[in-house]
Amino acid sequence: MYVEALVKILYLVGALGIVWGLKYLSSPDTARKGNIVASIGMGLAIITSIFDPIENSYPNYLWIFVGIILGGIIGWYMAKKVQMTEMPQLVSLFNGFGGASAMILAIIELYGIKDAVMELGSGLILISTLIIGAVSFTGSVLAYLKLDGKVEDKNVTFRGHNTFNNIFFIVIMAFSGYCLIAGEGNYEWLGWVIMILSMIYGFSFVAPIGGADMPVVISLLNSLTGVSAATAGILFGSQIMLIGGILVGAAGIILTVMMCNAMNRSLWNVLLGNFGGTAASNASGVAGVYKEISANELAIQLYYAQRVMIVPGYGLAVSQAQKTCQELDAMLSKNNVEVFYAIHPVAGRMPGHMNVLLAEANVSYDKLLDLDDSNDKLKGTNVAIVVGANDVVNPSAKTDPGSPIYGMPILDVLDADTVIVLKRSMKPGYAGIENPLFFESKTKMLFGDAKDSLNKLVQEIKALG
Ligand code: TAP
Repeated sequence: MYVEALVKILYLVGALGIVWGLKYLSSPDTARKGNIVASIGMGLAIITSIFDPIENSYPNYLWIFVGIILGGIIGWYMAKKVQMTEMPQLVSLFNGFGGASAMILAIIELYGIKDAVMELGSGLILISTLIIGAVSFTGSVLAYLKLDGKVEDKNVTFRGHNTFNNIFFIVIMAFSGYCLIAGEGNYEWLGWVIMILSMIYGFSFVAPIGGADMPVVISLLNSLTGVSAATAGILFGSQIMLIGGILVGAAGIILTVMMCNAMNRSLWNVLLGNFGGTAASNASGVAGVYKEISANELAIQLYYAQRVMIVPGYGLAVSQAQKTCQELDAMLSKNNVEVFYAIHPVAGRMPGHMNVLLAEANVSYDKLLDLDDSNDKLKGTNVAIVVGANDVVNPSAKTDPGSPIYGMPILDVLDADTVIVLKRSMKPGYAGIENPLFFESKTKMLFGDAKDSLNKLVQEIKALG
């Protein structure tokens, strides 16, 4: 009686920890704390479920602890070793493991039914867990392989792929319907068939989606894993699993919708299109003459500016230029130049990518402006320095209806008096399209690795002071 109450209280505290952690994650200055609080909540929930005498009456502690220790060591090592630019891949892979766990739980449960008759309600939940877990597992693994450059879009897709996927899905539904209604005595082999078909479907579902859309797909798969954990929670009568699953499912779908909104595209368009894939690479051919600027000339302009807007993008993450950026900011601010950072919601390769990098370099949060505030402040800015950003400042999103990024809100850097672009070459960004900004009369290019260029600038400004 008392033990039962204690177990429930511990689960509740664990769940509160997870919710509280999520709340903290909504702001960059509390995000680190949020991660720790949510981890403690999750840890408490795991420990309680291991020692829960009611649910876990015959625990095999050896298997449980060997699993926890092995998983813990591998997870710790991978998270420690990963570069910031590889974070989306890691999230995808970890998400895949979550899907695989739900899938394995469901298939084991299906085996347990053997010759008994499956109830319609619990059967529906069981088969949903199996399908969603399997789709999330292989879909996430393919998303990881694509993002890591191990698999190319063109090698895993074919003409009519989406139609094939729709037919495949109907076949899975047919097997599932048969299993539910008339599967008595055949649950074991039907379970295997549904599981294998769903694993193939997960792979095939992600295959035609273009590389640039992988973060959206990962977020969607993350949401699916949450749903499969929630349905597994219903299956096992585990409230904490249900709460955790619902939170992940809801957070994942909200993030997916937010990313689609920031790109002004529907989820449907993301899932059916191949933006950033092979087809987009020929789009929007722009040619023209561009002008270059030296670090010395730029340093003089910055030294005498009143307001400077730094526009970070994926290249900042690649060159790990955040600390040098902050150094430049500090020098200019000391010289009474107003410095702000224009943060586009999809700059980089994952949500909040730029905020995380700049927070790591101790850039003060009140200098980080969102899209609308940045566009307001760009009017009246003397110099906009685009540091390794491309698509998020591409004016064809506003002017060229044929462009794959048409309709995506952008940072209006052309509202500043001068635009300086720091990148290594004239190559396009992730969407694979040319950027007419580089050929505008007020734009000048400073070629080179972003960190090297910023370092040179810092040295030149030091020499001026
Ligand atoms: P991109 O358009 O990908 O452009 C990055 C630029 O950085 C490239 O043009 C590249 O040019 C330059 N670069 C790379 N390494 C560099 C280095 N070491 N030093 C200097 N420059 C370097 O980046 P963006 O403007 O941040 O846009 C993000 C893209 O990802 C958008 O298309 C967005 O829709 C997509 N996306 C993002 C998300 C999230 S959540 N962030 C989600 C889905 C899709 P060089 O090679 O010439 O140097």
